[in-house]
Amino acid sequence: MRITPLLFLAVPLTALAVQAGEPTQMRQRELVHLVRQDCGSCHGMQLTGGLGLPLTPEALRDKPLEGLAATIHAGRPGTAMPPWKTILSEADIRWIVEKLMTGFPKE
Ligand code: HEC
Repeated sequence: MRITPLLFLAVPLTALAVQAGEPTQMRQRELVHLVRQDCGSCHGMQLTGGLGLPLTPEALRDKPLEGLAATIHAGRPGTAMPPWKTILSEADIRWIVEKLMTGFPKE
């Protein structure tokens, strides 16, 4: 029996086609779910920190958007933060960072 990581089941392949511009409404809902569930498992269900750093607007205020986006894209080697580039487009990542910096939506 082949075991596919749940993470990949949860993310439709069509998402990879969206490379520019703001994610669609449907994609935005998927991203909120992904961040609350998958990122939340390390960063806390309220994103206030856990194994990972807090991702609240206060915690991110003085950090440049580009650096945060790069961390999500490529992960941080030597830490538990994994790369997300295979399932999140640049547009997805930018949207997530902008929302994290201004207050992430609830599901
Ligand atoms: C397996 C655990 C884990 C998961 C899952 C995870 N992270 Fe992280 N993340 C970390 C850790 C640990 C760090 C801190 C790395 C360090 O020490 O520099 C981090 C750092 C970050 C940072 C940098 C924060 C800062 O203040 O510099 C961002 C942004 C981030 N993660 C976003 C995300 C997002 C978005 C997701 C989901 C798409 C995610 N992470 C999923 C563990 C995780």
